[in-house]
Amino acid sequence: MRIADADIAKVLIDQEQIHQKVQQLGAEISCDYSRRLALNEHLLVVGMLKGSVVFMADLIRQIDLHCELDFMIASSYGNATESSGIITIKQDVKDIEGRHVLLVEDIVDSGFTMASVLEILKKRNPASIALCSLLDKPSRRKTNVKIDYCGFEIPDEFVVGYGLDYASRYRNLPYIGVLKPEIYIK
Ligand code: IMP
Ligand code: MG
Repeated sequence: MRIADADIAKVLIDQEQIHQKVQQLGAEISCDYSRRLALNEHLLVVGMLKGSVVFMADLIRQIDLHCELDFMIASSYGNATESSGIITIKQDVKDIEGRHVLLVEDIVDSGFTMASVLEILKKRNPASIALCSLLDKPSRRKTNVKIDYCGFEIPDEFVVGYGLDYASRYRNLPYIGVLKPEIYIK
């Protein structure tokens, strides 16, 4: 038992399921971009900090292409489990004009974060931009977001682990688990 395991109601996606999915996504991305990238072009993989870090670290090792990495921090006002829809960029990427960008996110929930980040990045004239999200909670969507590469659709439950946090904790759990409601309902 890990210390954090005690706060988990149930394991939703285990390590083996995650591994299989990441392999599959990496193969799909490699195949799609091997056709799209010119000889001297590299895929620019942009991770949304901090939630995508664990997923991105595994995903890039399943991508058989030349890749460059960059990171962004977007934060939304609101409490720990509800997004307000007002997004600010706290750390930005370097120039993406003319680049093939793959945005990597941990989870698309209301969709506000990815909708506004994609809108901002599209205005900078990338050669292409696609979204890869490990998780998707479609029942909570408040704005339209196209997820080009999606790991798992999950029900409306607050999950942690494999990069996802609650109050900055649980990112280091190797699986995705449902957090016990008593941890966040006070
Ligand atoms: P959105 O803007 O509502 O789509 O929210 C996206 C962000 O909220 C994600 O990048 C996560 O950081 C966070 N989030 C949404 N749902 C969960 C969850 O179940 N567990 C942990 N973080 C979540
Ligand atoms: Mg996030």
